[in-house]
Amino acid sequence: MTRYEFLKAAGFSGASLMALLSCVKTEDSYVEALVQNPDGTTGTTSATGTTSGTGTTTGTTSGTGTTTSTGTPTTVAATKADSSVFVSTEALSKISAKITIDLKSTTYAKLNTLGGYLVVSNTYVVALSKTGKYIAATVTCSHEPKKRIVYSNEEWYCTDHGARFSLAGKGLNSNGSKGLTIYKTATDGNTLVIY
Ligand code: FES
Repeated sequence: MTRYEFLKAAGFSGASLMALLSCVKTEDSYVEALVQNPDGTTGTTSATGTTSGTGTTTGTTSGTGTTTSTGTPTTVAATKADSSVFVSTEALSKISAKITIDLKSTTYAKLNTLGGYLVVSNTYVVALSKTGKYIAATVTCSHEPKKRIVYSNEEWYCTDHGARFSLAGKGLNSNGSKGLTIYKTATDGNTLVIY
């Protein structure tokens, strides 16, 4: 039953009925309003209000892109050294080196081969031992100041009078009894420092 039908059934009519029908509270968001057609019949029409609210919209965003890194890739020289003893390039740079050797240079190619050695700056004998360790000693013998020390058979050896020294510099015969000065080495695989 509509409001109009209810009020009319209750005995309201004319101006009083219209007055009651006009009492629509503002909070009513939807009412059936009386429409009186030209032929005297009545009907209803709908009034709508505005509905508003909030909500959450979820979804996913996807896309593609490229990641660019900068810097120079590190290429380790084709050395046969034992890489387990390599240190970082940063650590290497902090060593106060007596001499620095670029292992990628063809000048020092012998140091990329197990058992290879050479004399650097007419002062140091530098070798890559057969076990893959970089070792260095003075080229000047302790028997007489002859620059004849070489690396041979996992020893330091003087070709002048045959003095022999262990890789740690200990004398192994009478001519080598004074021992030999040994230097420390470090490498990151590209650079070798003697210190
Ligand atoms: S100078 Fe080296 S053994 Fe004599």
